[in-house]
Amino acid sequence: MKIAIIGSGYVGLVSGICFAKLGHEIVCVDKDEKKISSLKSGVIPIFEPGLAELLAEVVQARKISFTTDLRQALQNSAAVFIAVGTPQGEDGSADLSYVLAAAEEIAEICAEQKIPQILIVTKSTVPVGTGAKIKRLVRETAPAVDFLVASNPEFLREGAAIDDFMHPDRIVIGVADEKSRQIFAEIYQKFPTEKLIITDIASAELIKYAANSFLATKIAFINEMADLCEEIGADVKQLARGIGLDSRIGEKFLNPGPGFGGSCFPKDILAILKVAKDSGVKLSLIDQVIASNKNRQLRMVQKISAALGRDVRGKKIALLGLAFKANTDDIRYSPAIAIAKELLKKGAIIRATDPEAIENSRRELSGVEFFSDAYEAAKGSDVVVIATEWQQYRELDLARLGGLVAAKKIVDLRNVLDAKKVDAAGFEYGFIGGK
Ligand code: UGA
Repeated sequence: MKIAIIGSGYVGLVSGICFAKLGHEIVCVDKDEKKISSLKSGVIPIFEPGLAELLAEVVQARKISFTTDLRQALQNSAAVFIAVGTPQGEDGSADLSYVLAAAEEIAEICAEQKIPQILIVTKSTVPVGTGAKIKRLVRETAPAVDFLVASNPEFLREGAAIDDFMHPDRIVIGVADEKSRQIFAEIYQKFPTEKLIITDIASAELIKYAANSFLATKIAFINEMADLCEEIGADVKQLARGIGLDSRIGEKFLNPGPGFGGSCFPKDILAILKVAKDSGVKLSLIDQVIASNKNRQLRMVQKISAALGRDVRGKKIALLGLAFKANTDDIRYSPAIAIAKELLKKGAIIRATDPEAIENSRRELSGVEFFSDAYEAAKGSDVVVIATEWQQYRELDLARLGGLVAAKKIVDLRNVLDAKKVDAAGFEYGFIGGK
């Protein structure tokens, strides 16, 4: 099936390349000429494990092409996915201007080119009611155009996106008619039918926000449990296992840490709050999750300060990890960045490193020295702080590290090290949720 995908950002690219791998004929469209010409030469503008290799494979198989011309992309396409950005608006709501502009352009082209019936799908995370808005907009812009509207939210984790796409727990499809359902059945024909969850459009839109809100709540919960464990001398790892093995709770997303970040959870929980407020519903639990997560970063700063004997002024802190989580170069709402800023304000000297996120961090953090690896960053430091759970940091050579630092102290905000080994290497060890 020929499918057009508007927006070659993270979601659009991963979806486009994976759809192509499934055998569809994909045309990725973006207004950014530089991005398109780089993609045409096989260079991916984002860091996502395995994506460049998969792109090379589908390019070789002639299953994907890139263009700035939506006209060409819509010719003979059965469906067009809108995967443009939905940045956070000033009041917390998702800014739909790119989504609606794309829908309007589709309408104009379909009218002008007399394109037969086309399915318009939102892949971007959009508030409830967006499908209905698109329907009205297309109808008003081009009354003669034959089109269908649907919602197909993505559940891709950065760093694990290909696996999430190819082996999903479920595929949520919000449709208003039988024809749209049939098109989706063809798009996802390689997946077992029981994976396809067919809903109405509004429910599909809400499922995306609700899923992210629930996961964020789970993280806030385990982080607060970690605080409690620290005070009463219990171990949060054991606690997480003890509750997680109850299949009603589940083991995943119970890793305590410096709080959730990234381009999705922080933005989506604000957006669901706005949706609820506009509908006169109070989501008090979500309010609390936001407050709890904000508090988290301050608590992490206190933890680091305590390891340094309260005053951090003039102290050298080796900060290992800047990305909001491992396997990405994304620093949006990264707890590591927020913590670094707070420590800088308090007069600390930050020596930072990250395997992928240094370039992005340079734009965000001034007054920080960046180093290519953990050992360089650790030289002469008063404390080593692990803020992102990169594999490199799990495998730190503690003997080597011990020979480089000024004081043998580690604060592990991701619980990636083995306490016994850290102890044996002569380090003072601070971690999350235990004594
Ligand atoms: C998240 C969801 O997991 C995806 O399903 C969803 O599609 C995506 O948002 C989106 O809306 O596009 P992502 O933001 O890439 O994906 O990252 P996650 O792996 O979910 O992590 C989010 C944050 O929670 C990170 O800061 C991570 O470190 C933190 N986290 C996650 C924890 O602190 N503990 C955990 O146990 C899990």
